[in-house]
Amino acid sequence: MASSSKPIILATRKLPQPVEERLSGAYEAILNPDDRQLPIDELLRIAEGVDGILCTLTDKMTPPVIAALPARVKILATFSVGYDHIDIPAAKARGLVVTNTPGALTDATAEITFLLLLGAARRAYEGETMLRSGQWTGWAPTQLMGRQLHGKRLGIAGMGRIGQAVAKRGLAFGMAIHYHGRRAVDLPTELPATFHADDADFLAHCDYLSIHMASTPETRHWLNARRVGLLPQGAIVVNTARGDLVHDEALIEGLTNGHLGAAGLDVFAGEPNIDARYLPIPNAMLLPHLGSATVQTRCAMGFRALDNLDAYFAGKAPGDKLA
Ligand code: DGY
Repeated sequence: MASSSKPIILATRKLPQPVEERLSGAYEAILNPDDRQLPIDELLRIAEGVDGILCTLTDKMTPPVIAALPARVKILATFSVGYDHIDIPAAKARGLVVTNTPGALTDATAEITFLLLLGAARRAYEGETMLRSGQWTGWAPTQLMGRQLHGKRLGIAGMGRIGQAVAKRGLAFGMAIHYHGRRAVDLPTELPATFHADDADFLAHCDYLSIHMASTPETRHWLNARRVGLLPQGAIVVNTARGDLVHDEALIEGLTNGHLGAAGLDVFAGEPNIDARYLPIPNAMLLPHLGSATVQTRCAMGFRALDNLDAYFAGKAPGDKLA
């Protein structure tokens, strides 16, 4: 264990340089320059000598892992808004403080949602493949005709911060906004949107469905075969939230049997070991969980995690305390 008057923080993954610089200035930092995913037993061993852990969504903080954390570890500051990788009840029971980074990645995620909405609707993957494989024989009136966003209905499942940022952009594209969630949201007048308490009623209004729910045991496999069947013929599905909100079997079936028009996916169940049946589907645009991957946003996420650590070690309540 290093001797230091500063708290010792383990950063489980390599972070953007400005974040690591601030971390190393304020704390005794244990960094991961090779960005190796630490096996849990190794993480627990290193944790013997640390006061806090700056973890990420790739560190699965299950009840047994939380129970095995050395008593010295007082705080888990996750470099993510999602916290489905941390068992919050177990953390509460252990008296472990947990924080996340809400707000830091709203715009980046809304932007990548539109990359996928547009990419799926305009058949970007098929076009790129045609071009790069030398199959393009030139412009043709009926070549790779896709769908437009303008004048269509955009359904948002989960009208939180990111859902609202997507809705705002959808309006700018000339889309009508519909949403579904546990309750109607008090939206600003410049964000007109129709709330549907009933999922079937909501799904029937989705030319495009964009998923922005939190992943919980209740929302797991929310987009199942029944709900895929309730979408209009040719609907386009985009998921930039969490992979397990979608039942892969149902989505793959909907994409391959012609019921769905296309899908744009940035997140997958079991990442990085995704369901291989997605790979050959031409009307699926697939990205490797890049929603927050801009320099600006990854730095903002790191700084937000550091703000939470700073507050905790200054004896104050962290702004983003989950447990
Ligand atoms: C998050 O913060 O939960 C995102 O998925 C990271 O990109």
